[in-house]
Formats: sequence, C-alpha cells, structure tokens
Amino acid sequence: MATRWGICSAGRISHDFTVALKSLPAEDHQVAAVAARSLENAKEFAQKHSIPRAYGSYEELARDPDIDVVYIGVIHPYHLSTCLLFTNAKKNVLCEKPLAMNSKEVQEILASAKRNDVFFMEAVWSRFFPASVEMRRLLAQGEVGEVKLVRSEFGFQLSHVGRSVQKELGGGSLLDLGIYCLQFICMVYNREKPECIQAMGVCMESGVDETVVVTLKYSKNRMAVFTCSSGLKLPNDAIIVGTKGIIRVGYNMWCPTSFVVNGKETQYPLPEPYLPLNFINSTGMRYEAEEVRQCVLKGLKESAVMSHADSLLLAELEDEIRRQIGVVYSQDCQ
Ligand SMILES: NC(=O)c1ccc[n+]([C@@H]2O[C@H](COP(=O)([O-])OP(=O)(O)OC[C@H]3O[C@@H](n4cnc5c(N)ncnc54)[C@H](OP(=O)(O)O)[C@@H]3O)[C@@H](O)[C@H]2O)c1
Repeated sequence: MATRWGICSAGRISHDFTVALKSLPAEDHQVAAVAARSLENAKEFAQKHSIPRAYGSYEELARDPDIDVVYIGVIHPYHLSTCLLFTNAKKNVLCEKPLAMNSKEVQEILASAKRNDVFFMEAVWSRFFPASVEMRRLLAQGEVGEVKLVRSEFGFQLSHVGRSVQKELGGGSLLDLGIYCLQFICMVYNREKPECIQAMGVCMESGVDETVVVTLKYSKNRMAVFTCSSGLKLPNDAIIVGTKGIIRVGYNMWCPTSFVVNGKETQYPLPEPYLPLNFINSTGMRYEAEEVRQCVLKGLKESAVMSHADSLLLAELEDEIRRQIGVVYSQDCQ
C-alpha cells in the first residue's frame, strides 16, 4: 500500500519535496493533501502538483484520518508548535531541519513524539543520498584508515532572503546552513560528542550570525572544522582525512551526487524533476522519504540513520556555538 503524505505549508521547500515524492513509484508514495495558512495558497499548490485535498489550516490536515505521514516545511520558529500539533494528533512526522530553534524545543518535540508513539524524524536529507550511504560503508570498513580530520563548508549570499536575515523568522547561517556541515562531521565521527568546541562568528545588524567558523576537537586527537555563511558563496565541499587516504565531496556537499575516495570518483545521478526546483538537487529528498516509508512499514518510531539522539546532538552543538558567538533568539529566553 502506498504511504499517504500530507504536506504542511505551501512554501519553497514543500514544493521541492513534493516534486521529489513524485519521482518515486506511485504505488509506494502518494501526496494525499496539502495544508497552508491560506486556503488560496493550498489550493494553488494542490493544483500545481495534482493533490486531491487542500486545507486552509494545519489543524484540518491534523484531523484528516487518511494521512500516514506529515511533512513539515514551515520555517523553523514554527517547527515546535507545528510538530506538537501533528504528534498530538497521532501523525507520523518528517520535519524540516533545523528541527527547532534550540535543544530545549527539540527535547519537547521528541518527548511529544515518544508520548504519542508516532514515527518522527528531522529531515536531514543528506544522510540518505546513495553517496552518503556508500561513504559510511567505506568509513566503517576502514577504506581511509582512522579519520583524523573532517573539514566542510557551506555558504551562499542570502542577504536578499527574509528568513535568512530576520531574527524572528529564524535567520542566521548556523541553523540554516551550518547544520549541514555539523551533521556531516557528526556522521563521520559516528555521533561522538566533541571534547571541545571553539566558535567565532560575525553577525548581521539584525543580530543573527552571518559567517561562523567552528573548530571541534574529538577524543584521540581527532579534529573537525567548518565554516558556514549566509553572506559569502563558499566552495561548499568537504573532505575526510584518514591515516590511509582522503574522501573528497565536491561542491554540493550537503546533497552529494558524487565523491572521490583515494583519487577514484563514483557518481550517483538524480532523476530529473517534473517541475523546476527552488533548491539544488532537491529530487534527492526522495531518499529520506523512502527511509520514512520503510521505517513506518516496519513500525519503527525513529530512523537508525537520523535518530532522535542525532537531532538532540545537533541541537546541543548548535546551542553551544550560538552561546560562544552571542546569538540569542527569543525562544532561548522562554
Ligand atoms: N532540506 C533542504 O534542502 C531545505 C532547503 C530550504 C529550506 N529548508 C528548511 O525548510 C524550512 C522552510 O524553508 P523555505 O525556504 O521553504 O521557507 P519559505 O518558503 O519562506 O516558508 C515556508 C513556509 O513557512 C510558513 N511561513 C513563512 N513565513 C511565516 C511567518 N512569518 N509566519 C508563519 N509562517 C510562516 C509558510 O507556510 P504557509 O504556506 O502555510 O503559509 C511558508 O510557506 C526552513 O526550516 C528551512 O531551514 C530545507
């Protein structure tokens, strides 16, 4: 039976996620409904993507009994309230990254998912690309020996994007872009907590971080460093340096379709989208969607690849980095 998806919000990433879902077999994935704050926007979205039901509120989607999983694509200051709405309605949820504004909110969301016994995952889509799966396999079998250093970068000039700049919309490069570097580092170091973090950053006039450089020191003298920026276009690549070799992930490190291990490149092409996308390689969200389907079919409440503990680790590291660079959101004071 097909997994019946409900899409929450008619924004830019919801568009791309819906296109990605439709690149999967229709007997496995169906987009059953979309909800937006305005019925007009929901109807327009539904028409564009041939979705049978459109709702003018998220509550109506929460009440729809014929939905297996809700995808939440609202901006992150609204992730907490929206996640609670759907988990309390006993819906399985895939919520966009960052899961919330801080670790306190993340804990509240995860506790609600557990209490309501629903599947829940933060949409860290990078981890489900075939290239990422293969990288993890190579690392586990020691292809590059013991990893000693991980470096990654992610930056675009986003000063024209309201939600990247304005504090009340969750602006700041760490939560939007740095999270991809951080999740890459956490993935390579197998979820280990770093012993020490040092962060420096420069902020915009709005008080959110524009460019941040972070160094992390792990046990056994292993290191990681990343840079994120919403003011600069960076090389957006990553490297993993081990005692026996190097893995290089080229531009698009957050949605990798190729990588080079010890000089040998492997490519993993994506299917063509049926409509233009807002973001690079978004059809690659199909892999996280299939992970959700498989977990739900098995009755699992979380994914082993992007678990609740993984979300909490990311949020705790982000809290510490923001503490060091002095970025405070209103949610931190509640
Ligand atoms: N996985 C990825 O590659 C990726 C890429 C981009 C973004 N994201 C994440 O996805 C989320 C949405 O990003 P986006 O670029 O799609 O954002 P967006 O298009 O600006 O907004 C998404 C939706 O959020 C709701 N929203 C926007 N402004 C609001 C406000 N002031 N008050 C209440 N609700 C508001 C709207 O929902 P309605 O339609 O219901 O009005 C809007 O359609 C972010 O958390 C971002 O980090 C992920």
